[in-house]
Amino acid sequence: MSHTMEGMIPKVRKAVFPAAGLGTRFLPATKAQPKEMLPLVDKPLIQYGVEEVIHSGIQNIIIVTGRGKSAIEDHFDVSFELEHLLESRGQKDLLASVRGVSDMIDIAYVRQKEALGLGHAVLRAKDLVGPEPFAVVLSDDVIDAEIPCMRQLLDVYEFFGASVVALMEVPKDRISAYGVVDAEPVAHNGAKDRLYRICNMVEKPKAEDAPSNLAIIGRYVLTPEIFTSIEAVQPGSGGEIQLTDGLKHLLRNRPIYGYKFEGTRYDAGDKLGFLKATVEFALKRYDLGGPFREYLRGMKF
Ligand code: UTP
Repeated sequence: MSHTMEGMIPKVRKAVFPAAGLGTRFLPATKAQPKEMLPLVDKPLIQYGVEEVIHSGIQNIIIVTGRGKSAIEDHFDVSFELEHLLESRGQKDLLASVRGVSDMIDIAYVRQKEALGLGHAVLRAKDLVGPEPFAVVLSDDVIDAEIPCMRQLLDVYEFFGASVVALMEVPKDRISAYGVVDAEPVAHNGAKDRLYRICNMVEKPKAEDAPSNLAIIGRYVLTPEIFTSIEAVQPGSGGEIQLTDGLKHLLRNRPIYGYKFEGTRYDAGDKLGFLKATVEFALKRYDLGGPFREYLRGMKF
């Protein structure tokens, strides 16, 4: 689709947050709460994702919940008791941060009763999304970027009117943990090294079979045909319906682009990734960075 047709491309208004996975890599912390509620410094992972999409211009949030549903709902709900207490104590900054969460947006919830895979979780949002393009955010992928990662993907979507996935270069010895694309570079905005047109994708290939070093990470802009594609795929290993299989099906009759976003991604669903993100985010905080750096400098390894 060409730039001149831009006005005809429907706007992305909704973002889906699958948060119904079992989070086995983070047990026992995830036994009674979803990993999306683990705090990075002082905010749960899912709030970083929600703030990212709001800063990207998306207002409607749909959260797919499983176990621990109430922790997420309560987090984004108004807490009158807490607000009253903070008000009576004159703790204005804390009050503002608590209110900021519940004032943020309109959130709808849908349940995935059994963790039958990421594709299945996205499909649960079909009725709430309707026949329009939408974003998907996996909030255990935390992305620190000057321009929010989702905004970068939306810019590509708004140009081409096609689905876009976020890509990241991954070293060969780590590639088998990801969905990997076979893709052709496309010149865009005067650059040739960020945008790709995807030809094929493979979920968790062996390092020697990986078609490239470009892995799909947890940010997507999808056109609504993806729902029919997910419905068409058979469950893969472990009975799970994979989003990658849905995307491969979509690729048969729609183009899909990949965008190597600018920024740093942390896999906060993994213990080491979570620790790295905690240190980096704490160091960047105006109120903690100084003393925390001093503490780290004084540590003996
Ligand atoms: P992951 O594969 O990272 O999540 O799914 P997991 O299965 O919870 O984690 P581990 O590997 O056991 O530690 C990526 C995203 O998809 C969601 C997860 O909540 C996470 O945001 N998901 C996954 C669902 O919502 N439902 C599912 O059935 C599977």
